[in-house]
Amino acid sequence: MKRTIKDLVNLKGKVVLLRVDFNVPIDKSGRILDSTRIVEALPTIRYLIEHEAKVVVMSHLGRPNGYEINKSLWQISLFLMSKLKCKTYFVNDCVGEEVKERIRTMENGNVLLLENLRFNEGETTCDMNFAKKIASLGDIFVMDAFGVAHRKHASTYGVARILPNAIGFLVEKEAQVLDQVLTNPKRPFVAILGGAKVEGKIKAIETLVEKCDTLLIGGAMAYTFLVASGIAVGHSMLESDAVVIAERILKEAANKGKKIVLPIDHIAYREGDKKQRLIKTDRLIEDMVGCDIGPKTIALFEKEISKAGEILWNGPLGMYEEKKFQKGTTQIAKTVALSPAYSVVGGGDSVNAVNKSGFANKIDYLSTGGGATLKYIESGSLPCLDVIQEKLI
Ligand code: 3PG
Repeated sequence: MKRTIKDLVNLKGKVVLLRVDFNVPIDKSGRILDSTRIVEALPTIRYLIEHEAKVVVMSHLGRPNGYEINKSLWQISLFLMSKLKCKTYFVNDCVGEEVKERIRTMENGNVLLLENLRFNEGETTCDMNFAKKIASLGDIFVMDAFGVAHRKHASTYGVARILPNAIGFLVEKEAQVLDQVLTNPKRPFVAILGGAKVEGKIKAIETLVEKCDTLLIGGAMAYTFLVASGIAVGHSMLESDAVVIAERILKEAANKGKKIVLPIDHIAYREGDKKQRLIKTDRLIEDMVGCDIGPKTIALFEKEISKAGEILWNGPLGMYEEKKFQKGTTQIAKTVALSPAYSVVGGGDSVNAVNKSGFANKIDYLSTGGGATLKYIESGSLPCLDVIQEKLI
């Protein structure tokens, strides 16, 4: 069992470097479109404040190429200030003298948010010199960035190798929920997978086939599975290299008596003609491009969801980035939320759809992880959690 912040004693006056995942969607005017990840990090921040630590909060935002003003954490510091009662500072750097001076002069129980770690290229390359510079700012490292715990970066993995450390409440809760879902699910266990890139998710899909009773597949990856089952998909997004893998997964599922349900109709358009059409799977021919699941597929998925004892959902079921192709994801979000089954939803778009459905409070657990959740499903842990110290028993 990993050390948690509750195992840390004498926090008073200690500089705690707290890694969070504040990688939230922000519009052009700087408005935060979904604050879930920030709100979910607040219990850990408040605990450290109450225990009179100097709380240094660190995060990335997006994938900047050097400094980009619209990826500055300044925008988030204003929101954070509005949620905390203590003094909350922001500095426009994440290492160096200015940061050190601010930490030295701030009072115990106050918070400092650092600038986007990814403005420094040493972050994503896990440059240990950069990790040492970050580590030199504090006494203790707390990992509460579940959403990025699958990335071995300087501030997630490197710093944990240098400083005494622990996990925060959010990481603890995320791991507990996923462990429970994967080891002891209520049957039938229905998994819903969407998004693209079968290739990067093979192990997670295989684990889900092993653990669940029914797997509903939508989104771009469904086209690769349709081709693997001998169905043409026209010009829909296809990962040709992953067809063989999808074939193998379909075979494995059949051998194990697991049900994989693929879309039977689609919202599509003909290339060069943006008019939306509703077509059956066998009409995905020539230059047709499938972009969302159709009403018959929604009904089919809803039938499986209505029988579920437990639901785990990750990834959008259509091209969610375009409003006109959000319907499938939005409708399934509502159905999952209103289902009496124990439900866990992860991934930016799926969580966003649930939040927009107005029934988010009916989901049992909204995970802050997207890729991290899939990696956790794959291996039952994450590299940046493995590096955290074990509890002393
Ligand atoms: C996420 O949004 O999934 C995490 O913040 C990780 O972001 P990344 O995929 O850019 O590393």
